[in-house]
Amino acid sequence: RLPKPFTLPFRVPPVLTPTRVDATTDYYKVYMKPVMADVVPGLKTPLWGYNGIVPGPTVRVEQGRRTVMRQVNNLPAKHPVLSYTPWTSVHLHGSPSAPEYDGYASDITNPGQYKDYVYPNTPTARTLWYHDHGLHHTAENVQMGLAAQYLLSDPLEASLPIPHGAYDIPLVVGDAMFATDGSLFWDNHDESGMYGDVILVNGVPWPVMKVARRKYRFRLLNASVSRSYQWSLDSGEPLIVIGTDGGLMPAPQRVRSFRQGMAERYEVVIDFSRYPVGRRVVLNNTSPKNNVDYTNTNKVMAFDVVADDFDPADNTVPDQLNPTNPVMALTAADAVRTRRLDLVRKNSMWTINGHTWDDVVRSGFSLVEGDPREGDVEVWEIRNASGGWFHPVHIHLVDFRVLDRNGKPPMPHELGPKDVVYVGENELVRVVMRFEGRGKYMIHCHNLVHEDHDMMSQFEVRADEE
Ligand code: C2O
Ligand code: CU
Repeated sequence: RLPKPFTLPFRVPPVLTPTRVDATTDYYKVYMKPVMADVVPGLKTPLWGYNGIVPGPTVRVEQGRRTVMRQVNNLPAKHPVLSYTPWTSVHLHGSPSAPEYDGYASDITNPGQYKDYVYPNTPTARTLWYHDHGLHHTAENVQMGLAAQYLLSDPLEASLPIPHGAYDIPLVVGDAMFATDGSLFWDNHDESGMYGDVILVNGVPWPVMKVARRKYRFRLLNASVSRSYQWSLDSGEPLIVIGTDGGLMPAPQRVRSFRQGMAERYEVVIDFSRYPVGRRVVLNNTSPKNNVDYTNTNKVMAFDVVADDFDPADNTVPDQLNPTNPVMALTAADAVRTRRLDLVRKNSMWTINGHTWDDVVRSGFSLVEGDPREGDVEVWEIRNASGGWFHPVHIHLVDFRVLDRNGKPPMPHELGPKDVVYVGENELVRVVMRFEGRGKYMIHCHNLVHEDHDMMSQFEVRADEE
């Protein structure tokens, strides 16, 4: 019943067109709505999409231009299978948005309502994504389709001879399981995770993409609810990692394989000039620890090398990309203090320092895990003492640098600015960051089932004088 891997054509989500543009701002209107999607051939799958598209339309913006996005919740009053009310909160993941526009889990928009989100687009060029963050239903809402890429460019990124335009390709990777009637099968085993037997790239099961004999840049987003990936090419050729969550790395890293937790973004260049026309190259997944695997979850997508003709522009990976990003110059010695985040399982809930989001709500939102002053540099030690699980930990607002993992240097693919870090079993990962902006922001595990049950808390950046 399921399609064979590498039989369905690859596709790219459409780019969202602004409804209005003025001197400073691009205005968008997005309707979250149900769609009967064609995912598995011969079946119809009820999903929810931004503008009815899954994954949602890609937003492309330039640094310094503002975005105003009206997000209209036109979802039904009840989820068709799980029958909860789909309130929503849209988070632009990777942006230092003001607190009221950051997709705070408790700041919900009910069906029939809308909210205008304002994004300054001030950070460096990067691969962001917008996804739902609605309280206690983030996993279901994202699995239903409420996720999409948002690509920010800046003059440095645009001036580098790395692949652009038609050779700069978003890859939204997810996994799903389908019931015989085509609807999503909700395999919510306890509060540990949700895993599918079908790997989806841009909403297509194991697609195959035609490529020319040149370099391509892929914006790899792990949008899975609970699955992590370990990438490699069946040819044994390297993947050239050029960007991380917070944008271009100081220097490219050539790796045969690398690991990607949920919500992490990596920009990866693959050089197809190394293969003859007619060759098929497969992107594989050797599962990292603590996933649930099925027959074909070790395969992701294929590339068929079809053409000698191509646009030869921007076909280079320079030795230096963004060597002067201040985030990458931070050291532990710059920090004014060190804080600890303990990830623990308590009474069948996932917690941060023993706290759940319900504790935050019950405190009237006064409970915080940290209260840095504006401008402070801090080291956070994130310790996973939760048993046999990994947690990709996301800190809103900031870009951070990974200092070490159990005292060892970060992996080569982590040598760039990050906002999610993979914290494996019994690991202690240290990150360093500077806090700019003010207000309360979330910290949570990006295994969305853990986030919903309830591994999420907050910190507050306070004014210097307070
Ligand atoms: Cu991508 Cu708080 O989330
Ligand atoms: Cu987790």
